[in-house]
Amino acid sequence: VDPPTLTLISRSPEETQEIGKALGTLASPGDLFLLVGELGAGKTCMTQGIAWGLGVNEYVRSPTFVMVTQYQGRMTLYHIDLYRLETMGELLDLGLEEYFHGRGCCVVEWADRGKATSPAEHLVVRLEHLSESARQVRIEGKGMRYAKYLDYLRALNKSHGTGH
Ligand SMILES: Nc1ncnc2c1ncn2[C@@H]1O[C@H](COP(=O)(O)OP(=O)(O)OP(=O)(O)O)[C@@H](O)[C@H]1O
Ligand SMILES: [Mg+2]
Repeated sequence: VDPPTLTLISRSPEETQEIGKALGTLASPGDLFLLVGELGAGKTCMTQGIAWGLGVNEYVRSPTFVMVTQYQGRMTLYHIDLYRLETMGELLDLGLEEYFHGRGCCVVEWADRGKATSPAEHLVVRLEHLSESARQVRIEGKGMRYAKYLDYLRALNKSHGTGH
């Protein structure tokens, strides 16, 4: 059995968007993508790609004051950004369960801050700076539904010849 993790190297914002686009293309209702990584790691960049893969025609940005933004593609994308989250009470007030168990799919930036309410099954994407323009992208599927995503990305990676 293939391991449920995959490590890729992205050498540009476009490559990160490309990985996201593959995930968005594969996504089905109820999917949850948890993005983890420091400031500027590329979480929003990855979300832009996921949105395009879902058929969203807008450019995803990080709103300053709202933590949840909706986009319409072949299903609703809930873009949740927990950067400004400060307390457990605020997290609970967001009522994220409604989005997690709805008909759309969810992408969470700064997902490590929302662990307390995240469902056990999800796909984690960890982004780390390697240099100004390179990022390590570690993808881990928790739950059988994500195994095929990793297989697909693994195959895509082989044909593109990036990563390791
Ligand atoms: N390989 C790469 N992948 C993604 N972004 C890259 C890459 N190389 C350079 N960048 C740059 O890094 C920045 C990533 O910004 P982005 O807003 O996506 O990060 P973020 O993780 O969402 O940050 P924040 O925590 O502030 O929300 C962009 O300016 C982008 O152009
Ligand atoms: Mg961001």
